[in-house]
Order: sequence, then structure tokens, then C-alpha cells
Amino acid sequence: TLDLPPEVVAAIRGARRVMVLTGAGMSAESGVPTFRDAQTGLWEEFDPSQLATAEAWQEDPRFVWGWYAWRMHLVRGVEPNAGHRALAELARLREVMISTQNVDDLHERAGSSVAAHVHGSLFALRCTDCDSPYEGEVDLPAEPEERLVPPQCPECGAHVRPGVVWFGEMLPEADVEATEAAIDTLQPGDVTLVIGTSGLVFPAAGYPAMARAEGATVIEINPTETEVSDMCHHVVRGTAAEVLPALVAAVGE
Ligand code: APR
Ligand code: ZN
Repeated sequence: TLDLPPEVVAAIRGARRVMVLTGAGMSAESGVPTFRDAQTGLWEEFDPSQLATAEAWQEDPRFVWGWYAWRMHLVRGVEPNAGHRALAELARLREVMISTQNVDDLHERAGSSVAAHVHGSLFALRCTDCDSPYEGEVDLPAEPEERLVPPQCPECGAHVRPGVVWFGEMLPEADVEATEAAIDTLQPGDVTLVIGTSGLVFPAAGYPAMARAEGATVIEINPTETEVSDMCHHVVRGTAAEVLPALVAAVGE
């Protein structure tokens, strides 16, 4: 297996609690494109201001809905990767709290419980106007479709929207509070894993520094340097599906 820096193994082995902060890189090896990676990044191919803002939704709900419905189709068609499964295993060895920026359900499908989805959840559809959750059927296209009409709210007839947080929108309070409360309770000896995030989007990008301020040992798992690398005590330059199984195996020994 991958040779991990001994101080990283020691930190995890000695940890009472492990707080896990994940971003799109966590799901990359499942086949879900990240946002800002060179060549595969979603924001290379699609314009976020046309897709991930409330204005874009007001402007053209069919295009925005068609894109998110395609992403739901994509996530439905992939599996959690060895990294997701390793984190589910870790929760059997240590107290684990996961706060993710990801809107997919791959952590849950790998068996993890996720304390916070700070950018919402793809599958948590709700009414644009009356906020009622939408549990009805949706037809999911294999490609982004510009003309896809969003489902209609059975309560008030308005458009149903994706349950994700768009740029400029408020984050779900309960998820932010759960994350910040968990960070507040971190103590020296605890570990925070920062996995697969570029550290560009706030407030999530501020969480590693907050964890460090509480005395936790912060470890980044990411093949490349990020905006939060210098907040971390240790960095493991590898991928989630390679590093996490090796880390969890080392803890279990
Ligand atoms: N394993 C671990 N990390 C990886 C892998 C992998 N297999 N592949 C890529 N990465 C890393 C990249 O190096 C990059 O640092 O994952 C990170 C992905 O960065 P982004 O695409 O910016 O994703 P993220 O940080 O989650 O974006 C934050 O931006 O568009 C919004 O709401 C969206 O939640 C998202 C937010
Ligand atoms: Zn409604």
C-alpha cells in the first residue's frame, strides 16, 4: 500500500475524534467531475454564473433544471469509491464527523452518516415558492438538456428546484451550525482531514483554519496544492481512493 508519512499515521492512531471535511475530489474517483480541476472541471465546460445562481434560475429554469437533472442522473449511475468506504470503516474505529461541500449522496451510500451538507443535497428537491419538499418522480436525462421543464410543486404549482445552494444564497443553517459546533469541540489530539477541496469557496474554505485554531491536527489529502494547504500540519499528496484505505488500515493495525 501507499507509504504514508509516519507522523500522519501517528496522528490518526492517537486521535480520539476525527472531523472530516470533504469536497468534490472525494467523489472524483467515482466518476463525478470536480468543478475546477484542469480539463475535467465542470466549471471549465459550463459557466457557473449560468447554472449555479438564483438569477440563472429566474432567467431560465429549464436550462438550470436540465443541468442539475443530468447531474442527478450521473450520481445515480456511479458508486461510492474506496475512499468513501474507508471513511465508513473509520467510523467503526474512531468517532468520525463528516461535513461535506458535496451535494452527492456517495458518503451515505458507502455507509457513512453525514452530519452536514453545507452546500445542500442534489436529491433534496423542494418548491421554489412554498419550500415544500418534492418527493415525486423526476425524469433524469443522460445529458444536460436546455428544454427540460422542472417538476411542478403539488402544493402550489410553482417550479421545483434542486436542493443545492447557489452562489450568493444562504447556506443551510442547521448544516453550518453542526459543522461549526463540531469544530468548536475539537481539542488537541483530535484530527481534521481535509479531503478533495480546492479551498476556494467560503465559509467552507475557512473550516480548516478554524479546526487548527482549536488545536486539532489538520491533514490535507489532495493530489495537488490548494488554497488551504498552508493551514494544514501535514499534507498527503495522493487521491482519496488511494490514501484513505491505507490510512484506515494503518489505524486498524
Ligand atoms: N482525490 C482527492 N482530491 C482530488 C481528487 C482525488 N481523486 N481529484 C481532484 N482532487 C482535488 C483537486 O486537486 C481540487 O483541489 O479536489 C479539489 C476539487 O476542487 P473543486 O473542484 O474546486 O471542488 P470543491 O473544492 O469541492 O468546490 C467547492 O465550489 O462550485 C462550488 O458548490 C460547489 O461545493 C462546490 C464548491
Ligand atoms: Zn410550492
